[in-house]
Amino acid sequence: MMSSTDADSLYLHPDRNIAIELVRATEAAAIRSYPWIGKGDKLGADGAAVDAMRAFLGTVDFEGVVVIGEGEKDAAPMLFNGERVGTGRGPACDIAVDPIDGTSLTAAGRHNALSVIAVADRGTMLDASTVFYMDKIVTDATGIGVVDIRRPIGENLRALAKAKGKDVSELRVAVLNRERHEQLIADIREAGAGTRLMSDGDVAGGINAARYESRIDMCVGIGGSPEGITTACAIKALGGFMQGVLAPKDDAERARGEAAGLDCDRVYELNDLVRGDNTFFVATGVTDGELLEGVRKKGPIIRTESIVLRGKSGTIRRIVADHLVEKWLDDADR
Ligand code: FBP
Repeated sequence: MMSSTDADSLYLHPDRNIAIELVRATEAAAIRSYPWIGKGDKLGADGAAVDAMRAFLGTVDFEGVVVIGEGEKDAAPMLFNGERVGTGRGPACDIAVDPIDGTSLTAAGRHNALSVIAVADRGTMLDASTVFYMDKIVTDATGIGVVDIRRPIGENLRALAKAKGKDVSELRVAVLNRERHEQLIADIREAGAGTRLMSDGDVAGGINAARYESRIDMCVGIGGSPEGITTACAIKALGGFMQGVLAPKDDAERARGEAAGLDCDRVYELNDLVRGDNTFFVATGVTDGELLEGVRKKGPIIRTESIVLRGKSGTIRRIVADHLVEKWLDDADR
């Protein structure tokens, strides 16, 4: 809860919201991936998004270090971990990038792909890059002190339903549709809740679980660790609940994680995933989804829809922008 002193300070001494500038980079990534939507080439789509994002990040006054990039998992083109971004002038930040969360969705022309950037103060994001997967649970603020990743899913659903004043049958749970989640999906349904199976894209799933006016009550299951850290930056701004447990695939990965200082048995609370509340999160829709409309061409313009979230103020902005096609796409791609 914000004190009157916090409120006075935000109002009387407004400071820079770097995310307002960063949104140009996710817009650019989404626009440049437009010609690749539905074309069956996920590396091509990712490459176009990475190049555009990198170029626009270079214009922002900050000293960013990519703490968590995306790509090692499947050798995709990447903004690599440790890469320095920004002009080098301004605040020292950790940055997590996902030029396209949902490269397969984009290649297939399916719903729910986003271009995403999250930023926090230098040294505050958990560097989970040595362990590729993380088990996650996300809800809105109702889940705080009510839900716990250590408990069986049925118990969590009953507790959340009670706290929300709903019947369990009214809850909708987003979960990646993977073989590894067969039992989890069966348990959710056994408890009486409904599932929203996602073929990819658990960043959008997590945000939908935490944001006001969404039909999703919870997002659970194992997805990428980079996506987990990125999601955590958004959940801070949404005031929601999140926990994560690293999920190494084998002993060698567990050993690599532990050598890097990670604890694969620990429950990482939201504030362990990213410390402090000076977090920023921006996302632009690549393909249509419940969170954002995808990038689309309308005559001479390309329209993008983005959200811009800030942890410190709890502000959530939606930005719709029209961009002239002729400035952005080659003749062959229009
Ligand atoms: P990509 O953008 O790399 O395709 O990631 C999509 C995604 O579905 C993430 O949202 C999710 O966290 C992760 O992949 C799950 O990994 P996997 O597809 O290996 O189960």
